[in-house]
Amino acid sequence: MKSQTGEKSQEFLRQEINRMKKEKNALIMAHYYQRDEIQEIADFIGDSLALARQAAKTDADIIVMCGVHFMGETAKILCPDKKVLIPDPLAGCSLAESCDPEEFKKFVEERPDHTVVSYVNTSAAVKALTDIVVTSGNARKIVEKLPEDEKIIFGPDRNLGEYINSVTGRNMVLWKGACHVHDRFSIEKIIEMKKAHPGAKVLVHPECRRPLQLIADKVGSTGALLDYAETDEAKEYIVVTESGILFEMRKKCPHKIFHAAPAEDSECQCNECDYMKLNTLEKVYECLKNESPEISVEPDIVARALKPIVRMLQMSE
Ligand code: 13P
Ligand code: SF4
Repeated sequence: MKSQTGEKSQEFLRQEINRMKKEKNALIMAHYYQRDEIQEIADFIGDSLALARQAAKTDADIIVMCGVHFMGETAKILCPDKKVLIPDPLAGCSLAESCDPEEFKKFVEERPDHTVVSYVNTSAAVKALTDIVVTSGNARKIVEKLPEDEKIIFGPDRNLGEYINSVTGRNMVLWKGACHVHDRFSIEKIIEMKKAHPGAKVLVHPECRRPLQLIADKVGSTGALLDYAETDEAKEYIVVTESGILFEMRKKCPHKIFHAAPAEDSECQCNECDYMKLNTLEKVYECLKNESPEISVEPDIVARALKPIVRMLQMSE
């Protein structure tokens, strides 16, 4: 294996990561979209909500966030005194990037009587403009707790926003952002798959477009889709989200069949998030060894972004 670490084997990397994490009291956290080998060595795997909850309560000195940048920022905001590392600093998020803080500030200022609810897939600067952060795992529950006549801005994911509007009967004003992975799944391809696998249930992440949400047997966050697959009686599923989740689904339900849904353009690996896949085992090893790259967030942003994140954790209990 050619690598930045020379010819070091995966086994060597695993052993060294395990040794260093004990020595340094580090916690390795991974999102379900990470490469299989990273999920295997992680101390904790979860969706965005579970990762935030775990970060808030860990007593580790170092958090290695194997996910994307906003997940590292969320952990840093919750634990400003801890060292939060990210294996690849270029692991961004197209959805977070679809919401420029300056533009969002104008959008909010034009609607001064609205409560601002933002999806966790945002920069710390956008969170600092927000009243309540939500994840796909708790957005419905939190919006339902707000008074029925409350005017709400929801950003940045328009597909998740449309979903929450439909299930809660609210009429939130939506920022028109989207994730380049979820927004590309096509209803035609899923219908073709369904014809080929008529017994399969369709599991859809709410970042996918509305027509896909409408034909789904279950719409939910990665954690919710996993729970559904584990407890449901069907034996076969078409999974319409980033394909990294199949690793945990197959591990938890070894006797079930999971098909990764193809995206619109079958020439590319469009059902993979290229940002999530930037992290590799070698980069986890390097970042733990060098204690870098480290996430940093301006103290004034931490102070303002912490409030809506804490509000989310309290409201979703
Ligand atoms: P969840 O982890 O909340 O399911 O969100 C998926 C996602 O797109 C993370 O980037
Ligand atoms: Fe962002 Fe989409 Fe990747 Fe999730 S899958 S990290 S929303 S780009």
